[in-house]
Amino acid sequence: MHSEISAHGCGNIPATTFLPVFDTFEITRKPLLNFLSPVSTLGALLSMGLQIGDPEEVAIAGLLRDVGIAELPLEIQSIPRDSLEANQLKKYMEHPKHSLKILKEKRLLLSERVNDMIAQHHEHFDGTGFPEGKEGRKIVPEAQILAIAEELDDILAVVEGRPRSSPKRAIEMVVQNEAGYPLGHRYDPSLLRRVVSLLFGTP
Ligand SMILES: [Fe+2]
Repeated sequence: MHSEISAHGCGNIPATTFLPVFDTFEITRKPLLNFLSPVSTLGALLSMGLQIGDPEEVAIAGLLRDVGIAELPLEIQSIPRDSLEANQLKKYMEHPKHSLKILKEKRLLLSERVNDMIAQHHEHFDGTGFPEGKEGRKIVPEAQILAIAEELDDILAVVEGRPRSSPKRAIEMVVQNEAGYPLGHRYDPSLLRRVVSLLFGTP
């Protein structure tokens, strides 16, 4: 008999069903847990702190959001996103759809909300994101939480030759990056304000 993970809000997912998904992670360019866990954890903490969505669902979406990268040619997986050529970038931008396809093939039954988070984790509030170009409140807020968590994780990552950033500096940089565009570029401005208040402990 399968042991089961009680995934509040997701129904019971048999633990063994995660194993084939983890196999998928192993053929991506970065090691499994280094790649996905920090965003999963940070996203769940933000969900908890902001009281938006179900933290367990956000954690699951954070962990599974990029399995679709395994469908991309290896040369695309090994090139940083900002160095991809136009045709490679176009393929990369399909990875949220590949993630949903793989998870369906692996028969991992996820809630519609988790599927939305996975599908929308690269969408931008102003409609300039991918893969669908969804905008505004058509994007579920938990997908925006995962996107903020991913940007914070990118800034906090230890990269040789780059000064390390403090968490405080990281959130300042997220705000600065947004300020380079008209209000509400990547993120819902009210959500970003709430994240800043939460992380800085201001009302
Ligand atoms: Fe992604």
